[in-house]
Amino acid sequence: MQQPVRIAPSILSADFARLGEEVSAVSAAGADYIHVDVMDGHFVPNLTIGPLVVRSVRSFSKLPFDVHLMIVPADPYLAAFAEAGADIITVHAEACTHLYRTLQTIKGLGKKCGVSIVPSTPASALEHVMDIVDLILVMTVNPGFGGQSFISSQLEKIKTLRDMIDKTSRVIDLEVDGGINPKTAQEVVSYGADVLVAGSAVFGGNIKNYKDNIKSLRK
Ligand code: DX5
Ligand code: ZN
Repeated sequence: MQQPVRIAPSILSADFARLGEEVSAVSAAGADYIHVDVMDGHFVPNLTIGPLVVRSVRSFSKLPFDVHLMIVPADPYLAAFAEAGADIITVHAEACTHLYRTLQTIKGLGKKCGVSIVPSTPASALEHVMDIVDLILVMTVNPGFGGQSFISSQLEKIKTLRDMIDKTSRVIDLEVDGGINPKTAQEVVSYGADVLVAGSAVFGGNIKNYKDNIKSLRK
């Protein structure tokens, strides 16, 4: 069943010189999850942060930390992100040869497990993990950078995944990431998404705008 819409600001678009304050500010502004983009310069063409930074900003919010690993291999770093304070750890289906085992490892660390797929990967890649996965993350841009345009061919995939989730009796978040603004937010929710990641649409403008930015995505 589609759950109420939750907003997950991506700190990739935050001011990294004031990351702790930025995490507090979006938390106070009504965010539901803190989305953390981890990039390795190998699986995706950009480098961001590691577990040390997650640990440093963890105390700035009580919200769940939704950690999106765009790294290969992912397995050697799962425990470090769990210990750093991640609550949900999402890996890419394309980056994990033994995806089911990786998800079991995340669960074994006491965390929720997520699987993300890039725009060219079909929904069927998730068919045999529906009994374990807690969150499905549909990339609506090619992962690597904030501020890219939404790829609308992903809408049908969101619908397919909504149907796949509804056929199970499990609670599985259907999250969308990339190019989310008030207009595309409305579209993805109408196709079945219930968690919206947004970087530029939340952190754009002044810190005073965060509350309105989040509100306009939720509408
Ligand atoms: C892209 C990241 C996204 C990104 C979203 O690889 O996974 O979370 O920060 O940024 P916007 O919302 O600006 O497209
Ligand atoms: Zn992300």
